Amino acid sequence: MIKVDLRNSIIEALPELELIQNNEYKEAVIDIWEETYKKSEWARLEDVPKNNKVRAYSNVQHTRSVTLQAIACAEIVENIHNIKVDKDVLITSSLLHDISKVFEYDNNGNKTNYGKMMQHGVYSVSKAAEHRLPLEIQHCIVTHTELSKVMPQTIEALILHYVDYLDSDLLSHVLHLPLALKR
Ligand SMILES: [Fe+2]
Repeated sequence: MIKVDLRNSIIEALPELELIQNNEYKEAVIDIWEETYKKSEWARLEDVPKNNKVRAYSNVQHTRSVTLQAIACAEIVENIHNIKVDKDVLITSSLLHDISKVFEYDNNGNKTNYGKMMQHGVYSVSKAAEHRLPLEIQHCIVTHTELSKVMPQTIEALILHYVDYLDSDLLSHVLHLPLALKR
């Protein structure tokens, strides 16, 4: 991978970074993406697929879509229900929630050993903790997946959980893949 301009390419690939008001959170997100991709085998950010079945859409696309849907949802519940949402916590969590996919899948669309042996999201939350991001952000990341035994316990965690499944199922639907939606 050409890693020289990695930091710039992360900032370019994720324009939603600019929506984070807290500079420490924003720098932590960029640092985590940079450290993760530096260690990875992937040539370009956009080469990492959403997952091993949804390969037509990249992890970057999914991350951006989830982040923007989360912001839209936050604005609606604030305006209509007068429920306060911490947008910095929500945006930071959204941009980090699936960073572990860099290590969970290989170039051939297979799960890596890491992906088989480690629960989805564990790497992402460990990086958030390493970078001293607050518990509220770690909570959103760890509860975004139904694999977590912990249920979302904050407004921000609920929003991320549902918009992540919404975006995932929208992509599965257009690709004629089974939905995660339970009946
Ligand atoms: Fe996701």
